[in-house]
Amino acid sequence: MAVQRFMWRACYEALAKRVSTPDWAFMNYGYAPASVDVGMLPLRPSDEPDRLCIQLYSHAIDSCDLRDSDVLEVGSGRGGGASYISRYLQPRSMTGMDFSQEAVDLCNRHRLAPGLAFVCGDTQSMPFPASSFDAVVNIESSHCYESMDNFLAEVCRVLRPGGRFFFADLRNLDGVDTLREQFKACGLTVEKETDITTNVLTALRLDNARKLELIDALIPRVFRRPFRVFAGIAGTRNYAGLESATLRYLSAQLAKRVPHRPEWRRTQGPAPQNGRLARRGRGEAVELELGFTRRTAIRNGAAFVTSLQIQRRDCVRMVEDHFRRSRSVTVPE
Ligand SMILES: C[S@@+](CC[C@H](N)C(=O)[O-])C[C@H]1O[C@@H](n2cnc3c(N)ncnc32)[C@H](O)[C@@H]1O
Repeated sequence: MAVQRFMWRACYEALAKRVSTPDWAFMNYGYAPASVDVGMLPLRPSDEPDRLCIQLYSHAIDSCDLRDSDVLEVGSGRGGGASYISRYLQPRSMTGMDFSQEAVDLCNRHRLAPGLAFVCGDTQSMPFPASSFDAVVNIESSHCYESMDNFLAEVCRVLRPGGRFFFADLRNLDGVDTLREQFKACGLTVEKETDITTNVLTALRLDNARKLELIDALIPRVFRRPFRVFAGIAGTRNYAGLESATLRYLSAQLAKRVPHRPEWRRTQGPAPQNGRLARRGRGEAVELELGFTRRTAIRNGAAFVTSLQIQRRDCVRMVEDHFRRSRSVTVPE
């Protein structure tokens, strides 16, 4: 496995070094929505050439609101995905991490924007303190890892309670069950898992001619053959695997559980009835106001906090989730 890691790293280092054009921003197979899906992802004209690759990110993140979130992408490659998230989904901060120093340098040269940064690091021991992120994104990278279990443990460590993990990648048929077991055992809760092989295959078909042109223009002749396999060009091994269903492409969304009995709950008395929780402000300090009728307050006979100044976003989620579960208080989405 260490040999495999070394080979992948050498490969991605060489690619970033030899083909340093910033125009090539993505290295995934893409995603084409089924025709029944409604609406087309709105993109700026300059992002249109990368539509299929961007749609894979958009599908994995699944309209989750990332504003006011600290987001990490693991295996950020040439930075197109982190740049898309930063520009369109407007998180508070967006960090791309990759084990290829050349790729990180390329991103830091060409993709920097306010709140967006790229760092070098390995999935097996990520260079971030515990509970640093509200979301971790991982697109078509995990098949390279030395240990998926270690990686998932690291994701669990760096996520804040209530944080989300957005995943998409391919596996051979045996690997699909193993992956599901790994998700189940990692301490995160699987909220959604979808087999998107057909969508990815359609994207590969739609993008085949463009990719062939790019390979001819950018990749030295001697490397073109193996690179076509890597890029999933029609007729090559990975493409055929997806076509024959011996290779599957999965997306998943997992969440880090919020502790069920937060400390503050024990000191607050019974939950008020028919209340409404309103959220004010964004960014660092958020105020949650708990409103309810005077009658309800008297009936409960409880002393409770009507307004909470909450500094951390994960705590806001924790309080909101508590009231959502209690069902006696309306919590707007
Ligand atoms: C196929 S590319 C996908 C890049 C990007 N997510 C995208 O969709 O364009 C896989 C990326 O994962 C990175 N990667 C592979 N193994 C890694 C590891 N152990 N630690 C960090 N990054 C890794 C590679 O360097 C490469 O940039």
